Amino acid sequence: MWPTIATTVAMVCVVWVSVNGQVPIPKRPLGFVYGHGDPADPVLLKAYIDPMCPDCKVAFPTLLQVADHYGPSRVRLTVHLFPLPYHRVAFLASKGTHIIDKATQRNKTYDWLTAMFNNQSSFSNDATSDMTENQVIQKLSTFAEALGVDATHFIKMMSDRDLELDTRLGWKYTCTRGIAWTPGYMLNDVLVNADPTWTVSDWESVIDPLLSGSHGMGMHRKENSCPPGQKECNFLPGKTQCCTAGENCIPNVGCRC
Ligand SMILES: *[C@@H]1O[C@H](CO)[C@@H](O)[C@H](O)[C@H]1NC(C)=O
Ligand SMILES: *[C@@H]1O[C@H](CO)[C@@H](O)[C@H](O)[C@H]1NC(C)=O
Repeated sequence: MWPTIATTVAMVCVVWVSVNGQVPIPKRPLGFVYGHGDPADPVLLKAYIDPMCPDCKVAFPTLLQVADHYGPSRVRLTVHLFPLPYHRVAFLASKGTHIIDKATQRNKTYDWLTAMFNNQSSFSNDATSDMTENQVIQKLSTFAEALGVDATHFIKMMSDRDLELDTRLGWKYTCTRGIAWTPGYMLNDVLVNADPTWTVSDWESVIDPLLSGSHGMGMHRKENSCPPGQKECNFLPGKTQCCTAGENCIPNVGCRC
């Protein structure tokens, strides 16, 4: 039987996708930079977060403290939004971030994210299960208003095609980074297996060696709980392995030859 037009189109789409596994090129690098940046050559700390993810709520204040501690000339924090599909309000809250970012010329972007985290429980799946999408947008607009962005403008921009595509692109971009969870972290574009509960000093123990230019070898601990002949390797805060004689203790990696 000949394929119908619909199945032919579907087949073409499948072929198209398989040979064009690409996302559109953004007009400028993606993500929301904390503060107003600096021409220096800082360590890049990227956080992939979902405004409705409880672990991200835990991690976010510490990330801001880390960025403030170092300053933008030493560490540049950039947030990439990865709204998880099973958090009902996540995509709208992410699109809201784009709206606020644009309307306030980046001045209130992080205030918006902070407001989302502080009020996360009122946007949970349970809390919004009886609300229509328009009601959720209405509720979000009151948070925009609190940041000085006109609620009517905010609601109108929720249907803006470009902002919709920007939000989708941020999500797709994150997928191309190989991230499938939140919060996800990268330092200088390399994955860091950090816990959301990391403190500023935990982050310092990973970031300081990067700033000093050292390779951070020899993170062997003095007290050794490993079997005889092996050395304890504290390769990230709270994460240890036992290295055999031929192995190095490599930060962010563990025991490797
Ligand atoms: C954002 O902040 C900058 C620097 O303080 C200021 O010049 C600009 O007018 C602000 N923009 C808006 C929309 O508030
Ligand atoms: C959002 O959270 C802040 C800080 O916890 C709180 O003061 C404020 O009342 C909350 N806003 C709403 C609309 O629930």
